[in-house]
Amino acid sequence: MHSDILKILIDESSIATRIKELGEAISRDYAGKNLLMVSVLKGSVVFMADLMRAIDIPLRIDFMSVSSYGAGVKTTGVVKILKDLDQPLDGMDLLIVEDILDSGMTLSYLSGILKSRNPASLRLVTLLDKPERRKVDVKPDYTGFVVPDEFVVGYGLDYNERYRNLPYVAVLSPSAC
Ligand code: IMP
Ligand code: MG
Repeated sequence: MHSDILKILIDESSIATRIKELGEAISRDYAGKNLLMVSVLKGSVVFMADLMRAIDIPLRIDFMSVSSYGAGVKTTGVVKILKDLDQPLDGMDLLIVEDILDSGMTLSYLSGILKSRNPASLRLVTLLDKPERRKVDVKPDYTGFVVPDEFVVGYGLDYNERYRNLPYVAVLSPSAC
């Protein structure tokens, strides 16, 4: 185990098992539809890479990159689009892939933007959900794990851009923050 890690919250095999279940549910729900999975960079790339391989129906993928306007993201969720989708959303069944749903501010703003582009449907899958922290009414359609209100890293999630490569989800030790 990495020396900066206090405890492992979700280990590799639990993540793999849960992703297989999510993949099966999504494959069932989206059979015959135009599935477009959109990953919000960078935290969700690891989840995206594993989840898409657990889905056995035809699909497309795309990526978006957003940044907050200064500190405003914490209070308003207003984001600036740094990298937009490569394709129009007409007729697409859009599935937003997130690493963690916290206050929900970013996602509620982002889904507003994407809804205005008239996709056939829009749903959300998140690996982790911290419902205690929610400030706006955003509910994921698919959730990997509900986690307590602790700052977690690994499996794509970072602290100051580090720890994304850890294969598990963990709580950092106070000495590392
Ligand atoms: P929110 O839902 O708008 O508050 O923002 C969620 C974003 O904050 C996520 O996509 C993460 O980038 C980041 N975030 C929230 N909680 C954590 C955490 O525990 N570890 C790492 N990043 C987090
Ligand atoms: Mg993120």
